[in-house]
Amino acid sequence: ARPLTLLGIESSCDDTAAAVVRAGAQGGEILSSRVVSQADLHAAFGGVVPEIAARAHAEKLDIVVEQALAEAGVALGALDAIAVTSGPGLIGGVISGVMCARGLALGSGLPLVGVNHLAGHALTPRLTDGLEFPYLMLLVSGGHCQFLIVSGPDDFTRLGGTIDDAPGEAFDKTARLLGLPQPGGPAVEAEAAQGDGTRFRFPRPLLDRPGCDMSFSGLKTALLRARDACMAEAGGLRRQDRADLCAGFQDAVAAVLAEKSRRAITAYLALAPAAPALAVAGGVAANGPIRARLQALCDETGLTFTAPPLRLCTDNAAMIAWAGIETLRAGVDPTPEQLVARPRWP
Ligand code: KG4
Ligand code: ZN
Repeated sequence: ARPLTLLGIESSCDDTAAAVVRAGAQGGEILSSRVVSQADLHAAFGGVVPEIAARAHAEKLDIVVEQALAEAGVALGALDAIAVTSGPGLIGGVISGVMCARGLALGSGLPLVGVNHLAGHALTPRLTDGLEFPYLMLLVSGGHCQFLIVSGPDDFTRLGGTIDDAPGEAFDKTARLLGLPQPGGPAVEAEAAQGDGTRFRFPRPLLDRPGCDMSFSGLKTALLRARDACMAEAGGLRRQDRADLCAGFQDAVAAVLAEKSRRAITAYLALAPAAPALAVAGGVAANGPIRARLQALCDETGLTFTAPPLRLCTDNAAMIAWAGIETLRAGVDPTPEQLVARPRWP
């Protein structure tokens, strides 16, 4: 049979995105992937404003879809289906995307598939690397931190996650406390490379408790206290103090992620996967020392370590098109009339 080719549409947060993806022998081929960020529109408000987001999505969706089709060189009628994020997310944006997709589907007679945004993220390692089910996934970003066993397009087992802040948030707050630029992750990583990670011993929360849950909010309190002590002693924050604080902080985050990953791997290996693999996704997965520790852990436990490229870890529509392909392959019947936008979707 001809390989499935889908248009994907994503508008659940502050990125308006469209992409065309074709199923390949292993994984998929991204024929086009357009992402238009609304970050500038929200910057002055210190967060995403739902009304502004919904309006901007409604304005940009048609253009982004047109660009994705043109860049892929595929006409709407040559597609097999359209996939759209139907939740979870900011409901105004999700509705904008679903309405756009329904219009296109009704006009062209194409089937329409509703996709869970988080399933899109979780299935990305299959798009990029053709990973086999079941694999272990660590989603670690500015908003998320959780372990999932991905066993099928619609089959996810959550092993644990953060009970408070996400690690990316902790990196960003640390940067703020130390006068470093945003986003904090890359800035803290660069400083940490000049520092001594053993000088400050920051807490490693929840390591004494069983399971894969994590906590990162206590770290910033400890960091603040250590910073103030340094400043009181030197009458300001010395360069080396700042570097050592960054290194100590990063070591603590890496240690927690590595230890909890070890436990998640043990739970995962109990399923006796044929091709054991750990995939990481999210902005924090870009961190060199964190990646190195996870890689070492995988080498030790016999897992393949995979990290999709960053542009596919952050919000995009290629992952939505791909999740649509997986859904169709699994034999789910797409029913456009029943496709509803949902703000929550566990
Ligand atoms: O996945 P992502 O781009 O978006 C959302 O979470 O929405 O993740 C962004 C987060 C930010 O908090 C940023 O500071 C963090 O990922 N990040 C990093 C690094 N690069 C980005 N954290 C640690 N080390 C890095 N090199
Ligand atoms: Zn996302």
